[in-house]
Amino acid sequence: MEHISVLKDDVEKYLGLTAGNSAVDATLGLGGHAKMILEAIGEEGRLYAFEQDERNLIEAKKRLKEYDKQTIYFKDNFRYLKKRITELGVKEVDAILFDLGLSSPHVDEPERGFSFMEDGPLDMRFDQSSSLTAADVLNTYEESELADIFFHYGEERLSRKIARRVCEYRKAEKFFSTVQLAKFLEKILPRPNLKKGKKRHPATKIFQALRIEVNDEMTVLKEALEQAVEILRVGGRIVVISYHSVEDRVVKQFFKSLLTPKASPEEMLYRTHGEPLVESLTKKPVVPSPEEVEKNPRSRSAKLRAYKLLIPIK
Ligand SMILES: C[S@@+](CC[C@H](N)C(=O)[O-])C[C@H]1O[C@@H](n2cnc3c(N)ncnc32)[C@H](O)[C@@H]1O
Repeated sequence: MEHISVLKDDVEKYLGLTAGNSAVDATLGLGGHAKMILEAIGEEGRLYAFEQDERNLIEAKKRLKEYDKQTIYFKDNFRYLKKRITELGVKEVDAILFDLGLSSPHVDEPERGFSFMEDGPLDMRFDQSSSLTAADVLNTYEESELADIFFHYGEERLSRKIARRVCEYRKAEKFFSTVQLAKFLEKILPRPNLKKGKKRHPATKIFQALRIEVNDEMTVLKEALEQAVEILRVGGRIVVISYHSVEDRVVKQFFKSLLTPKASPEEMLYRTHGEPLVESLTKKPVVPSPEEVEKNPRSRSAKLRAYKLLIPIK
């Protein structure tokens, strides 16, 4: 199976790696970007690779077998990025990549519950050893909690209405499958206006919101970005690819706090005198070319942001 990594040339350019460098791939997936990184850092380099999905990790290890000596794998959430790396006695790295979100197998395997194109259980866990599933969220959360999740994580205008209808529905029947949820949403949400170019299924935003909640994605991302800049060497690069506006906003706001740090001690996340701690290498986020989107439609919403560390953050 051909595996296409998103914005590969740009990732390579902005990571700026050379032979002997050390790098972190926080989201190994099937190892497409990792392979490029390993080729750039060569035999003397080190790659620290995180993947919380066991099946992806096993597959990536197989694909990267020839680079075993240069790679240290963690079957772990990237929220432990700093801990895991410093435990090895490593103080700093030259570059860090986050290619967020889902991988193709997640979407292609109905039993993982991420997709409503084919029926599957309402699961959506990246890490199948964790306990909370999308069905648990829908069947047990309070109406107000559901409304907040749909609004903040799905940017769904009709969040309150949907939350109310979910709570009515589940009195008679529990939510258990992806197609069941998609059909339920189709009934209560307006049809997308295809004339206005709206191609997204009405369930898309709610599926996104549930996935973010199940995997606690926004909290984890904020924590991991803070840790990432703490283990980056001065002059080192960090590249983040996000796939929807909720994710991109977290990334943008986090780096804004480093580009224009607050000088007042109460508001200060990092000790500075107000000078920028990072330099932005991408004035505007980099997006895939129309050719890339045609070849790999899943890349269409990707946005890449890259930064260089100017001042140590500890
Ligand atoms: C878009 S894919 C990465 C694809 C990869 N760059 C490649 O070229 O093959 C994102 C991967 O990150 C993993 N992932 C998402 N959130 C994670 C987290 N918090 N910790 C560790 N892995 C995570 C997912 O399981 C998925 O395999």
